[in-house]
Amino acid sequence: MSYRTEYDDSMNDPEGFWRRQAGALEWFKFPQQILTQDADGIGTWFADGEMNTAYMALDVHVKNGRGEQTALIFDSPVTDTKAKYTYAELTDAVARTAGMLADLGVVKGDRVIIYMPMIPEAVISMLAVARLGAIHSVVFGGFAPPELALRIDDATPKVILTASCGIEVKRIIEYKPLVDKAIELAQHKPQSCVVFQRRVTHATLIEGRDHDWATLLEKSKAVGCTPVKGSDPLYILYTSGTTGKPKGVVRDNGGHAVALKYSMKAIYNVEPGDVYWAASDVGWVVGHSYIVYGPLLHGCATVLYEGKPIMTPDAGALWRVIAEYGVKSFFTAPTAFRAVKKEDPEAKLMAQYDLSKLQVIFSAGERLDPPTQQWLIEKSGKTVVDHWWQTETGWGITANLWGVEPLPVKFGSSTLPTPGFDVRILDENGTQLARNEQGYIALKLPLPPSCMNRIWGDDNKFRENYLQFLPGYYTTGDGGYIDEDGYVFVMGRVDDVINVAGHRLSTGEIEEVVAAHPAVAECAVIARDDELKGQVPMGLVVLKSGISVDEAELQQQMVNRIRDNIGGIACYKDTVILARLPKTRSGKTLRKTLNKIVNGQPYNVPSTIDDPGVIQEIIETLRRKGFAV
Ligand code: COA
Ligand code: AMP
Repeated sequence: MSYRTEYDDSMNDPEGFWRRQAGALEWFKFPQQILTQDADGIGTWFADGEMNTAYMALDVHVKNGRGEQTALIFDSPVTDTKAKYTYAELTDAVARTAGMLADLGVVKGDRVIIYMPMIPEAVISMLAVARLGAIHSVVFGGFAPPELALRIDDATPKVILTASCGIEVKRIIEYKPLVDKAIELAQHKPQSCVVFQRRVTHATLIEGRDHDWATLLEKSKAVGCTPVKGSDPLYILYTSGTTGKPKGVVRDNGGHAVALKYSMKAIYNVEPGDVYWAASDVGWVVGHSYIVYGPLLHGCATVLYEGKPIMTPDAGALWRVIAEYGVKSFFTAPTAFRAVKKEDPEAKLMAQYDLSKLQVIFSAGERLDPPTQQWLIEKSGKTVVDHWWQTETGWGITANLWGVEPLPVKFGSSTLPTPGFDVRILDENGTQLARNEQGYIALKLPLPPSCMNRIWGDDNKFRENYLQFLPGYYTTGDGGYIDEDGYVFVMGRVDDVINVAGHRLSTGEIEEVVAAHPAVAECAVIARDDELKGQVPMGLVVLKSGISVDEAELQQQMVNRIRDNIGGIACYKDTVILARLPKTRSGKTLRKTLNKIVNGQPYNVPSTIDDPGVIQEIIETLRRKGFAV
């Protein structure tokens, strides 16, 4: 099969193509409606199919005789723990945890927030919620209480599942006080909070609301899988947009299961029984799709790694795990590779491990910069494939389909559109641009299975945020071009979303926190290029008149405010005091120009600027403060 045949097939007969892929899964009732579209072209896949994602991911394999095969490998250098679960063991743990949730009153359609570190109970919780036909919303453990509170208010969960702590390299992060604070801040109060007590710290429980996980689990009984419709939501995952408030991306059960199952062979070229590892966190979409659901739907063994690419204990950590478990397909973010390259440039640690089972290294989350890709290829001798995707799609929009037809890798490109994705480069009027011309990357509707078709709690917001700008198309928020061979080059966001170490954040959200400082009159938060993390946020502030502050003190106060309100993962460090910001005559801050200046790139001064003199003033201030601009 060639890539071209496969892709054309998905475009010429989408319903036939995806009906065939749906046949690879075991449904309670096979869908008759494959794709239904509304007047705006928004699609729903497999709406009338009856299924359960946890059943497809676990019980089916046990039923088909794979019960003794490894399903989950837990490797935690930070606690010096290793464990393996077979499909039978994982199914049992999930069924009992689902029983525990059912005892707390969780039923189909209820929301459950999961705020947990990278431990097996996090994976078990997600699948247990799915087993009940309920909806999980996993919140990344690095988010601070106000961020968790926003999600509690939006998802209105009946139950929160958490653990006593997360373990970072240099410290233990007690989760329970963060959850308590978030519940205090939120308007919505969940009925129950279940706490998994880890050996290192023991959380204090609030009587009446909080429960000890082990105690509840001991009393619970295994429950079966609740059938849901293909169009019923499996999860809500919040992601940063251009506004201060994160958006709840809704993922339907049917399309999600079909697309992920298909991708495991088509993109990653793995077979049931192979070991697959996505080194991410279950709090991100990569973790949802490729630590939990994709590998399990396909019958692979998935690796859950509680550690870092470096420091746990060294830059050989990734290669150690790959060798130890015989990982065939490995996937992480460029930041992780850059961190390893920085610590071990000659790849001496890599050379100590047997990587012979590893077939291909996949990268996503941010653009894989050519020097890092080159280094990885040279040192590992493996093919290194970049693929581009978003929380909204749940799987790769562009990729090199390793299980269909491996194509030549081009540095800086995430290769060709994945089947089902009609990728176009448009200008702001919706006119398609020529090859090699840079513009907005848009996806022609309908989107393939797994892609979002609504925002939790507000259908219109999906239309407004994604469809209104270029009617008939989904706007990705990324800019880039397609070359003469059809290869897609994603060059970065065209909105206020920034990517810090593969983590998606909104400059607007950070700006709200910076602006709330009592000394600040106005500010702009800009993404500064960073050698390791890709981008880091930087605050440019103008003080209220008559106020003078110590700059170092202000700097530290801002760092603390961002940590307390958003979380350490924002990696916010620099705040620079400016006399004024560049503005248009109508008073709009020229963020794009500022961005280019801060990153030492050529910039245009728009003719609408209020006072061109401000640009030179800012450059001089930044230089005086040691920035190479
Ligand atoms: N819970 C609580 N805090 C967390 C956290 C979590 N789950 N994850 C990160 N943090 C904290 C860290 O402790 C750190 O705090 P500190 O500034 O007090 O030390 C801060 O958030 C920043 O974390 P991180 O970005 O992980 O930086 P680091 O310097 O500790 O590690 C790397 C650097 C490169 C090793 C790390 O960024 C990394 O592994 N990146 C790859 C990311 C990735 O895999 N993304 C996949 C998305 S697809
Ligand atoms: P998230 O929703 O957190 O997965 O972030 C999605 C965003 O990350 C995309 O819109 C891109 O800006 C960026 N991104 C992810 N993968 C890639 C890639 N392979 N190349 C370039 N950008 C990427």
